[in-house]
Parts: sequence; C-alpha cells; structure tokens
Amino acid sequence: MLDSEISSSQWPSSRAPGQAVDRLLYASLCCVDGPVFEEMHRIRRHALQRNVADDVFVALLFQAGWFMEWLEGPAAGVQAVMRRVARDPRHRDLRLLHLSRGERRLTEPWSMAYTKEHERPEDFARRAAALRELRRQQPSDPASVWRRLSMPLNRPGAEQSLETDCFQRVMVCSARGTQSFDLVRWLGHVNRTRVVSHRFAGAQARTGDVATDYVDLDGGPGQVVRRVVAMARNGLQIGLTQAFLPDYSHLIVVLSGEANSDRDLMNILVSSCARLAHRPVLLGVAPKSCGHEDARAIASQAGLAYLDCDLGGSADARSLWTVAEPALDFSLGAAAGGSPCHPRQSAPNGG
Ligand SMILES: Cc1cc2nc3c(=O)[nH]c(=O)nc-3n(C[C@H](O)[C@H](O)[C@H](O)COP(=O)(O)O)c2cc1C
Repeated sequence: MLDSEISSSQWPSSRAPGQAVDRLLYASLCCVDGPVFEEMHRIRRHALQRNVADDVFVALLFQAGWFMEWLEGPAAGVQAVMRRVARDPRHRDLRLLHLSRGERRLTEPWSMAYTKEHERPEDFARRAAALRELRRQQPSDPASVWRRLSMPLNRPGAEQSLETDCFQRVMVCSARGTQSFDLVRWLGHVNRTRVVSHRFAGAQARTGDVATDYVDLDGGPGQVVRRVVAMARNGLQIGLTQAFLPDYSHLIVVLSGEANSDRDLMNILVSSCARLAHRPVLLGVAPKSCGHEDARAIASQAGLAYLDCDLGGSADARSLWTVAEPALDFSLGAAAGGSPCHPRQSAPNGG
C-alpha cells in the first residue's frame, strides 16, 4: 500500500443507507501550469487523508480548463474541505453549482476524471451558468449536474437542450480484451457519431488510471437517445462509476469462456452493485460453447437479474451488438427502475 493510500476499512462508517448528507458541486478555473492530471494525482495524495478525517467523499473533474468538484458528507466536513480548497492558488473564480441534502452517491473518499474534450473554457462556463439558472426552476441532484456538464449529450442540437438528462444508459464491460471499447468504437463508426473518452482514477492507487468511452445513439423520432458506455474492468471499482450505476438500465457483460476471467468480472459487478437500491439488468453475452451457468449463479446469489444472449460464431462488435441490442428494449420492472428513462419500445438496427 502506498503512503498516501488508505485501506477501505479505514473509510468512514457513517454511511448508513438513507442518511442525509450535504451535497455540493462547484466549478473553478484551473491555474495549473503543466500536466493537469499529474497535479490532480498530487492533490489526491493529500486530499485522501484529509477527506477521510472529515467523512467527506469527493469527485474531481478537469475539463476545458475548469475544475469541477462534487463533495458529499456532513455539513461540517463539507465546509472544512471548502475552506481548504478556497484558498488554494491552483484555481480561482469558484462558482457554486449545486447544494442540497440527500443520500450519498459517491462510494469512496476520492475519484477523479479528466477529459480531453476540445471544448473552449468560455463554452464550459456558459453551460455551467445555464445549469445554475435551470436549478432555480427545477430541483436536480448532484449526479445529474455532473453528468450534464462532464458528459453532455453528444447529439445535434443537444447543447441547446441542457435540460435533457433523459436517455437510456447502457454499460459494456468485457471479461478479457477490449471488446467493450471495440463495440463503442464500431457503434460510433457505423452511426457516424463521435466517441467521447474520459480517463479517471479512484481512491485506491492499485486500481490505476482507467479509460471509459461513450457514444450516443439517436433513437429516431419519438425515441430516447441510447448512450453506450465502454468501461474498463478496474473502472467498476471507482466511486464515480458506482455513483452512476443506478442510472443504467443494463450492463452488458461480455464473457470470454475463460472461467476465471468471467468469474472475476461477475464478482466485481456484483460487489459494485451490492449497495444499490436500483440495480441494472445484467445482459450476459457469451460464445455458445461457454454457457451462462456460473455467471447466472453469481448474479442470482446477489439478487441481480441476468438475461443470457448467445453469440453464434464470431465475437466481433457487429455480432455482439446484433445479439445484445434487442434485449436492451426490455425493462424488467423494478430491476431497471433506477434508470430515469425507460428503455425504448422499439429500436432501429444499430449496425
Ligand atoms: C481543484 C482542487 C480540489 C481540491 N480538493 C481537495 C479535497 O477534496 N480535499 C482536500 O483536503 N484538499 C483538496 N484540495 C487541496 C486543498 O486546496 C489544499 O491545498 C490542501 O487541502 C492543503 O490544505 P492544508 O494546507 O490545510 O493542509 C484541492 C485543491 C484543488 C485545486
């Protein structure tokens, strides 16, 4: 364990479900010269210890020359962190974006995300100001503010409709290799849509920096957009990923047929979903020869719904999507109830 690392058993225990905490989001202009993600690692080393002492969990984003930080914890702890943060010369022009009381979503004391999106700082500032304005008219939660700013809908006209947070979210994770990322890249290619990439990291240094890519697929007239997110296996253990898990309708689990790898992935998924009130449906995609018995048993022991899809021959992106896509239109009632938007009734062929 690194000096700066804290074992998860030392994390605050005052995290009973239903317990209300303060949730605050602010944005600030970054004044860091040089590589920002490295500076964020330096901030992390210090902040991790201090945040645990204050019982505050945070997620820090860098995007378009701005930082955005999401804090959750007891009011006194959040105020203590904000007092430290406000006098730091590595940023300026702090703007409060969100303040509310409610349940914690973040599951570890530190997560951070970095995006290389080529957005201009003034455009990010404009979107942040529009969201603040919107907040006056309709209540929102911190996850929704974070998502709208850091992962805006990537569809024509979406920048005019900031209020749109209503779309289906599907995560893809593969037990081995890069099939999840290959699938998202292929979907981007056949739908002529840009793939958006983020890098992020969590509280545990052993998890390392991980990547995630997403693509937004237009459902056509009257249909909600479907966002497909490729997630690295390690990424599932990061607090920020877990904070958003209740909003996914489905997790596509691409099994490899190699028993240990498949079991490892299933166990990570099950533990990531363990604390969620709303759980996504697991959609197991496997070569015919591999079978679903083990995966289904692990899912059912954890109370997760598991749908199986068999791949005929090839396991390339097109074959994968062909078997998985029709199943994404099924919602299993309460199991998929966490998603604010229901799966579509019908969907065009993605490929
Ligand atoms: C964007 C940004 C976010 C930060 N987030 C935290 C944080 O969550 N917790 C924390 O203790 N320090 C955070 N820091 C570092 C603090 O600003 C400060 O430098 C550090 O806590 C040192 O405080 P101290 O002098 O009281 O030890 C952040 C700094 C920046 C620039």
